[in-house]
Amino acid sequence: MLAVVPPPITVRAPAKVNLHLGVGDLRDDGYHDLVTVFQALSLTDEVTVAVADEPGVEVYGEGADAVPTGPSNLVWRAVQALARHVGRDPDEPKVRVVINKGIPVAGGMAGGSADAAATLVGLASLWRLDIGRDELGDVAATIGSDVPFCLHGGNALGTGRGERLVPVLSRHSFHWVLALARRGLSTPTVFQEMDRIRSEGRPPRIGTVEPVLEALASGDPRQLALLLGNDLQAAAVSLRPTLRRTLRAGVDAGALAGIVSGSGPTCAFLCESAASAVQVAAELSGAGVCRTVRVAQGPVPGAKTVQREEQP
Ligand code: C5P
Repeated sequence: MLAVVPPPITVRAPAKVNLHLGVGDLRDDGYHDLVTVFQALSLTDEVTVAVADEPGVEVYGEGADAVPTGPSNLVWRAVQALARHVGRDPDEPKVRVVINKGIPVAGGMAGGSADAAATLVGLASLWRLDIGRDELGDVAATIGSDVPFCLHGGNALGTGRGERLVPVLSRHSFHWVLALARRGLSTPTVFQEMDRIRSEGRPPRIGTVEPVLEALASGDPRQLALLLGNDLQAAAVSLRPTLRRTLRAGVDAGALAGIVSGSGPTCAFLCESAASAVQVAAELSGAGVCRTVRVAQGPVPGAKTVQREEQP
């Protein structure tokens, strides 16, 4: 009897921006304790997982050339981690993963983590696993600090390495313009630069997280704009001084505030409304301070299967 091969599954997963990224001291395990507020944005990657005799990863779209397809790709780590978790052979996974990138690569927006989260959701369905979101979240945390949030989506308060999440409610949609850079920045390098800057003095750290949570709950973008903060921003700007000009240009173009997204170099600008975001994007793209711009809104859901009729 012929075995029935399940059809491929496509999953969409969101980018993130950190509305608040408070970074603590370096831990013994090489990570930093974080207090962060994530928001998932409508800038997404699509990942298709399929049963295949020849396992592998293919990458298309935004910045695909810069994405490794070998074992260092987080998608591959996701395949192996889930296989191990459910007692399959992690070295013979017999799956092919095709990534369509919409999220900038090495941009500080968790693009690789989104792909890993999408892969977990896709494989859970492809392998017909009886596995809940919480259990999938535990596997996600072993792959990377941002992977649980990409699974979760919405708004969330993250602690630990960023992997311990508590949902945060907001009734409002926020409108963003993202300025994408020509070259990415390496996350470990940015954390190291922050440690170096701190070792030379006592640079100011961002304030407490509570007011950010209140601003999110109020839904007032003006209130939130005043509170956006990122302890990695000075390090990203130190490594890529042109970001200073990008940040200024977004505010000059009419954004309420601008911030480096995560470890950068993408700059995220919070705008008053959808119409304002379109206007800011148009002006910013003419200012010559970034490779390209995108408009996005948040929060959006986490990694989610694309409905069958939408499947390619
Ligand atoms: O967890 P993830 O693999 O995404 O982290 C990439 C790198 O970013 C880590 O190896 C570490 O250098 C840095 N990092 C950190 N503290 C965190 C998260 C990431 O120092 N909380």
